[in-house]
Amino acid sequence: MDGSFATPCAKRTESGAWVGQRGRHTGTWARALGHFFLSRMAPVAVLKESTFGSRRSTARPLRNNGVTWKSSSKKRRVRTPREYALAAKLGQVELARRPFEELSLRIFADTLASCDLPQGPIVEIGAGDGQLRRLLPPAVLPRLVATEPDPAVSRLFRTRHPGVPLLDARAERLPFETASVAAVVGLCVMDVVPDPRAVAREISRVLKPGGCFVHWLDMSPVLDEVIDLLRQAELVSFPNFVSDPSAGEWPEDLYVMSRHGLAIVIELLREAGVSLARPLAEYSAIFCSGASRAATAELIALQENGDLRRALASAFQTAILSAPPGIRAQLASCHAQTVSTARHFDEQMHACFEQAHFDRRSWIERAWQARARTAPERRYRSCLVGEQRHLSFAPQPPLCANAASAADEALIELGVLTFLATRMQD
Ligand SMILES: C[S@@+](CC[C@H](N)C(=O)[O-])C[C@H]1O[C@@H](n2cnc3c(N)ncnc32)[C@H](O)[C@@H]1O
Repeated sequence: MDGSFATPCAKRTESGAWVGQRGRHTGTWARALGHFFLSRMAPVAVLKESTFGSRRSTARPLRNNGVTWKSSSKKRRVRTPREYALAAKLGQVELARRPFEELSLRIFADTLASCDLPQGPIVEIGAGDGQLRRLLPPAVLPRLVATEPDPAVSRLFRTRHPGVPLLDARAERLPFETASVAAVVGLCVMDVVPDPRAVAREISRVLKPGGCFVHWLDMSPVLDEVIDLLRQAELVSFPNFVSDPSAGEWPEDLYVMSRHGLAIVIELLREAGVSLARPLAEYSAIFCSGASRAATAELIALQENGDLRRALASAFQTAILSAPPGIRAQLASCHAQTVSTARHFDEQMHACFEQAHFDRRSWIERAWQARARTAPERRYRSCLVGEQRHLSFAPQPPLCANAASAADEALIELGVLTFLATRMQD
């Protein structure tokens, strides 16, 4: 595996932190499955959730603790451990995005071309270290004014883009006059901000009539909120290991089951002597305990590992097949189903912008390209919000119905959730 595929998939925690799809593993599954599975996981550093601007994080002022590095402007500056951690994490995201850059550029350019924007600045919220800049059409860049509330992230931005304007601002309070902005854009921000409704109100304030808010989500929405809602409904969430998450219009990335149903499955597995019964019981206990973050961490650990998902699928099948008819009927009534976290996020977005003066729509835009294959194992790569895959073969059907590639090519596919709200007259 070369560097560009080192973090094949990235997932985000509630804090907006990104964790490499293979980088995170928590106790339950590691203990239960031991070396066999652990040996298949790349040793990527696990970074603290509070290190990326977040719902719960408190952006602490930077302290000079003596770690220095040379910026591109040749000045001696100080980089704190937190900045190192952020830089590493943003680097992972960039690597995960790299194979899809051309496709992102196409999708983002098409979205902006469909907006008939008035004159004025285009404001980016939650700019991070400025990755959206390279994914937007160059013609847009002179109008783009980036904003970012986290001082450490802002420093990374300024290092990467010296001389590019960046304002220190939260999206809930933008430093622009009322009705002065042509567009507000954001990439993977609205699922992180603590009060999306307040952001919607602020965007409504700064946009000119005819101006647009465009938000793109190219990877997973932050999972904690939806997992917590499901948990409150006494449902235990798993990554979808029962069907192809990408098969529907919306990626059905979670499989949910009632606690009662899962208890039956665990008991059946215990009776059948299947070793997964124990980690499943621990997993279920974490979901019952009310520790949302721990539950999300466990789910991500599962999502990161195809071997574990396959083991679970086969364990569930064993349980169902070994169940006596009466128990099987009970299991059937346990409402196990697949759900889409992207759809949940999309519904939230519509609810935030349902003020009368917004005309809003959203869609998942899919695009593909075939590329010369440089290594035999890199045959297929796809990123669909909530579901990312790196396979040695091209699946049937592919993400894009019309995608095709020759045997010696790699197929790259991308599905971005775009939300577009146009500011009407009041
Ligand atoms: C997941 S990162 C995305 C960064 C960048 N847009 C990208 O996709 O590479 C989320 C960004 O939102 C920022 N953020 C967090 N809370 C925010 C808020 N209330 N207003 C604006 N930005 C916020 C974070 O500091 C972080 O830079």
